[in-house]
Parts: sequence; C-alpha cells; structure tokens
Amino acid sequence: MAALDELDEIDPGTTARTDPKITVKGLERHFETPDGLLQALGPMDLEVRDGEFLCIVGPSGCGKSTFLRIAAGLLDPTGGEMAVNRQGTGPLSAMVFQDYSIFPWKTVEQNVRFGLEVGAGAPADAEERVGYWLDRLGLAAFRRSYPSELSGGMRQRVSIARALVVEPEILLMDEPFAALDAQLRMLMQDELLALWQEHRRTVVFITHNLDEAVLLGDRVIVMSKRPGHIVGEFEVPFTRPRTADLRGSGEFAALEQEIWANLRSEAYGAADAVTPAAPTVPTRRGLFRRAR
Ligand SMILES: Nc1ncnc2c1ncn2[C@@H]1O[C@H](COP(=O)(O)OP(=O)(O)O)[C@@H](O)[C@H]1O
Ligand SMILES: [Mg+2]
Repeated sequence: MAALDELDEIDPGTTARTDPKITVKGLERHFETPDGLLQALGPMDLEVRDGEFLCIVGPSGCGKSTFLRIAAGLLDPTGGEMAVNRQGTGPLSAMVFQDYSIFPWKTVEQNVRFGLEVGAGAPADAEERVGYWLDRLGLAAFRRSYPSELSGGMRQRVSIARALVVEPEILLMDEPFAALDAQLRMLMQDELLALWQEHRRTVVFITHNLDEAVLLGDRVIVMSKRPGHIVGEFEVPFTRPRTADLRGSGEFAALEQEIWANLRSEAYGAADAVTPAAPTVPTRRGLFRRAR
C-alpha cells in the first residue's frame, strides 16, 4: 500500500495508470516432439506498460523465444491469451533476432527497405525513412554493401534498422547483442539506449546479461526454468536519460546482484546446479523494492 501511495505522489498520470500495452494471461505453448508433448512455456501472466522498456531474463530453454514468437504473431499459443492494445493503424510489432537474420543476397539498403515492402507495400515516404535509419545507425556509407562484407556489429545494426524503419508499436528483441564481443556489445547498448530515449516505444528485450537488463530496462522480469513463468520482477529506479556510466554506481551493482540472487534461486534451482558466474559485487540486500 505504501508503494502505491508513493507512486501516486511521484508519478501522477504517467504510464503507470494507462492501460497495459500487452496483457498476457495464462499463456502456454507446448510442442509435439518424438518423445511426446513438451511444455515449453507457461502458464505465464504479464502486463507490459505502454512505452515501457521491459527486459526478460531466464535460463536457456525456458521459453523466452517462444514467448517472443507468440508476441510477434509468428506462433500461436496452445493455451491462455495475449492481448495487445493497438493504438495506430501501422505495423504492430517488429522483431530483431540474435542471429541478424538479414538476407545475404540483398544489400544493406535493400535489407532495410525490405521491412517496408512486406504487407501492404512501401509507404510514400519509404525513401526518406530508409535514408533516416541508415544514417541514424551509421550505415549510410555501407548502403550498397552486402552482409558478408560487414562485421557482426554492422549486420546487427542492419537488423535493428530494418525493424525500426517500419515504426512498429512494439519492438521485440531476442538477445540481439548476444553474438557480439563484449566491447561491441557495450557500444550497441549505448546506441540502443540513445535511440530508445529519442524514439520511445514499447520494447520487450530478452537477454542473458543482467548488466544489460539493468542498464536498458524500466523493469526486469525473471523467468523460471522450463516451462517458463514469472518468478521475479524488479523495477529499475534509475532516471533517464541514462548512459553507460550508470554501471559504475553501487546501486547499479546492488540491483544486478539482487536480480542475480533471484534468478539463481528461482530459475536455476539449488546452489549446486550449474550456473553462470555471479556478478562479482558485494551483496547489498533490501535496497530495491521487488515490484510484486
Ligand atoms: N518448434 C519446436 N519444436 C519442439 N520444441 C521446441 C520448438 N521450439 C522450441 N522448443 C523447445 O521449447 C523450449 C523453449 O525454447 P525457447 O523458447 O527457444 O527457449 P529460450 O529462448 O528461453 O532459450 C526448449 O526446450 C526448446 O527446445
Ligand atoms: Mg531463445
């Protein structure tokens, strides 16, 4: 109750009170496999706020990509529902995958334009939009290059430009920086942060990297092991605009540590299970209110 009162005082009439952008209720997905039915996801309940940058972390194989594919309309649920509060008449969502998934036989420019050519056909301002996003992602000089001529980071920029050019209401990102080396990953995080602060829209971002989740997200959701459901939810209290300098703060490290503790106990199970390396920061518990 105290938390709700606080919210009213600090944040009157902002996204906290508007209808959720995405409402997920009892969402489930199973797959038929040679070994029988495999329950991949759920039942999962979640609300994503309008304009929110939501990060989802969880163990490998827990159903994160399955969830995102359902959100993108690429896969039907086998139970429960997902409702999206559509506001415009344009494309509802666009997805960025980990493995770039751009066409090797198309140039950078053709790949970006492709995002506009599916469906009803390219809009009148297609040229302008393609030009803007090529520029914005530092790809203008490479517009006639083919993906094989580009570095991994540049290829991932093409994927991001291709998703953003359609100006979707929801951007779905499935571990988009996982294949990049650590330095490049940090650069891309900085760029995404700047981009999102400029062109705010609802983002659902899946990552294995807690540091990335805390830097980018308004909220971090922790999923259990398969079949994935939500076991933790953390509000990220840092004000925006944020920059990567935030990483140096003790509060940042403490929140990361708190999420790690939740992920480790709830998602990976017992302490003796095989787990990724914990962040090497001292534990300072209780600094952050669990959202639910
Ligand atoms: N098309 C499919 N057929 C059978 N099993 C699948 C299929 N897609 C995903 N799975 C299984 O569902 C589980 C969840 O997969 P996924 O959503 O990709 O997990 P994550 O993205 O969290 O690593 C995994 O066990 C995976 O092997
Ligand atoms: Mg996945």
